[in-house]
Amino acid sequence: MSDPGTPRGTAASPAGPVVRPARHDDTDAVAAIYDHWVRTSTATFELEPPGVGHWHDRLDALGAAGWPFLVVEADGAVAGFAYVGPWRTRPAYAATVEDTLYLHPDATGRGLGTLLLTALLDRAAAAGAREVVAVVADAETPASLALHRRAGFVEAGRLERVGRKFDRWLGTTLLQRSLVAGTPGPRPGQRSEPPVS
Ligand SMILES: CC(C)(COP(=O)(O)OP(=O)(O)OC[C@H]1O[C@@H](n2cnc3c(N)ncnc32)[C@H](O)[C@@H]1OP(=O)(O)O)[C@@H](O)C(=O)NCCC(=O)NCCS
Repeated sequence: MSDPGTPRGTAASPAGPVVRPARHDDTDAVAAIYDHWVRTSTATFELEPPGVGHWHDRLDALGAAGWPFLVVEADGAVAGFAYVGPWRTRPAYAATVEDTLYLHPDATGRGLGTLLLTALLDRAAAAGAREVVAVVADAETPASLALHRRAGFVEAGRLERVGRKFDRWLGTTLLQRSLVAGTPGPRPGQRSEPPVS
């Protein structure tokens, strides 16, 4: 399997983690991180790692559409990535996006996901997104549920037995966050930056 390696200095970087737009030379690290979760978890319903070419294409496609694809970097190493993309392809859905976030397995639980999601929501709002949907698998994903709820997402529904992986039927929880001022829940920029240790 692809070894995601160790993100150097995630905890010790004197400058702290930095969130920035993803580049093509990040795609090996992005692919290795995603491959890990594909092979070991039900966080994604993908069954086979899609390979580095997929990430080059996705970066190009999201960039062309104007949607953010970010990485969090700690001491020169990519510790995670996040992007938003179209929720549905029909034009009427154009202002609704779905988010995706994955951290290196050694970088979880330190606030990097919150840092990345906060930045992602800000960039998505600036790019014209109005509603963000998160699709969270119902097993092995307490951190993702907590992360999204803390960021102001509210549960919008559940789908039962819609996926099968590792010989189990799996459901998903749908969460939604509005980026439009005046709707319930916090807006981007209204909450303080989380502590990152
Ligand atoms: C989901 C993920 C992005 C969250 O990022 P993270 O940096 O680990 O999360 P944070 O440290 O920012 O914590 C966010 C919230 O999750 C909670 N949390 C973190 N790890 C947790 C765990 N293992 N179990 C339960 N809650 C957890 C934190 O307490 C925090 O909630 P709080 O603010 O209410 O206390 C990251 O864990 C990850 O990449 N996981 C594997 C892939 C995945 O599930 N991706 C999401 C697919 S929808």
